Amino acid sequence: MAEYDFDVLVIGAGPGGYVAAIRAAQLGLKTACAEGRETLGGTCLNVGCIPSKALLHASELFEEAAGGALAKLGVKLGSVELDLDAMHAQRKEAVKGLTGGIEFLFKKNKVEWLKGYAAFTGKDSVKVGDREVRAKNIVIATGSSVTPLPGVEIDQQVVVDSTGALELPKVSEHLVVIGGGVIGLELGSVWRRVGAKVTVVEYLDQILPGFDGDVRKESAKLFKKQGIEFKTGTKVTGVAVNGGKATVTVEPAKGGEAQTIEADNVLVAIGRRPNTDGLNLEAAGLSVNARGQIEVGHEFETAVDGIWAIGDVVPGPMLAHKAEDEGIAVAENIAGLTGIVNHDLIPSVVYTMPEIAGVGLTEEAAKEKGEVKVGKFPMAGNSRAKTNHEPDGFVKIIADAKTDRVLGVWIITSLAGTMIAQATQAMEFGATSEDIAYTCHAHPTHSEAIKEAAMAVTGKPIHI
Ligand code: FAD
Ligand code: NAI
Repeated sequence: MAEYDFDVLVIGAGPGGYVAAIRAAQLGLKTACAEGRETLGGTCLNVGCIPSKALLHASELFEEAAGGALAKLGVKLGSVELDLDAMHAQRKEAVKGLTGGIEFLFKKNKVEWLKGYAAFTGKDSVKVGDREVRAKNIVIATGSSVTPLPGVEIDQQVVVDSTGALELPKVSEHLVVIGGGVIGLELGSVWRRVGAKVTVVEYLDQILPGFDGDVRKESAKLFKKQGIEFKTGTKVTGVAVNGGKATVTVEPAKGGEAQTIEADNVLVAIGRRPNTDGLNLEAAGLSVNARGQIEVGHEFETAVDGIWAIGDVVPGPMLAHKAEDEGIAVAENIAGLTGIVNHDLIPSVVYTMPEIAGVGLTEEAAKEKGEVKVGKFPMAGNSRAKTNHEPDGFVKIIADAKTDRVLGVWIITSLAGTMIAQATQAMEFGATSEDIAYTCHAHPTHSEAIKEAAMAVTGKPIHI
């Protein structure tokens, strides 16, 4: 009798877990993946990245049509109407297609899906439903869920989290968003575009913590121009629901007089926290740090031999591509190969319009480490963006003043999420701003703004 049921058991089938399971199986390891949801793909595919992008894309097209942007291009439509049910239907279709795709990939790669939530019964054993299995290696990839706001109850009708905000059955007249981070701005944008008044209440003095200072300032300006109202430096002290409406009580973060805001819906988006409840980590001899995360070493190994952890449940940015890369790396490490993730170069993208993207250090962080040179190029000087009536935004490159090595790249423009890949790759290869400035970029493309920003680092852009 084999000592173990599996070489590798992955707990959680989000972008971290399903990728780890597929890579482990590809490397010849007998692999299973436990997942309690009815469909694979985790937060990202079911209630995160994918459904939010389905609504962002559709609402953007609606606004272009209804707001007259298409008519200005000579595309005249009759009256434009919102069919919210159809918009939701295409969102569900996108999720169904992609989650089904992971099920297909599991079958193709012979990854066994253990249906149910797993809890440790020992260092190398877990129980999933009625079945207890033993595995030589166990990868914890249980992800994260919404951080609750004390005193604010999420009923998914009036007061919603991101999952509820993806499914609102009608356009809210007034949506109050608590938290000016990525979820607040993406989902706030969706509902503003289809007609909601949106007010974002942010505790800090500026939105988008963690992003470059110029980017935070410029994006706040653009979102305000689009009609989102911001109350920064403001904390929510309570939400009362009465007769299907909410009264949100706020006061200055530094203390002061309270105010109330009437809302039809409230979205709580103040961050996410790791999922470890119910895992029975004690049985495996594991514990969590002060932030509830499972600490790991360079190879994603935990403090217990044979147990590994990746994705939102470990420290680092809570992003799908970070989880996926860690999934590949951990499987390779388990198989005796060398799996590495460069955590200094994980790109971040906010999928609003324009998109906001960055990789590496902010100017503020770079200056703390030493002297820097900064090159900035406005999209208003880029021929393609101008032709497409997208004058907003810029590309900003931060380079080491002595070595010219690129330390950070920040972009605001419609294609920023795609353009940031070029910057990330250049930085992975240790590029200097001069390397980018002397790389030929196709014309006319938004990407030429990256070349011009690189030229601006030494003061020589052509088009401004
Ligand atoms: P998860 O995707 O959270 O998956 C973990 C899985 O483990 C879940 O399916 C859960 O059911 C399962 N699980 C938990 N406990 C157990 C257990 N005991 N037994 C069995 N199964 C268990 N990131 C981006 O990079 N780009 C985006 O555009 C983006 N958009 C987002 C939009 C929203 C609205 C949200 C909420 C998040 C978004 N994210 C985005 C973040 C992204 O979804 C996460 O970073 C990513 O899903 C983390 O992957 P993971 O594999 O670590 O965990
Ligand atoms: P976040 O951390 O991006 O933003 C939360 C915001 O809420 C912060 O600005 C914070 O200062 C503010 N805040 C905290 N407590 C508050 C309070 N009491 N009152 C008012 N404001 C308060 O978290 P968010 O937006 O919930 O997203 C969670 C995670 O999901 C993020 O880590 C993000 O990386 C990921 N995500 C990524 C996306 C992407 O890559 N495009 C899209 C959506 C989510």
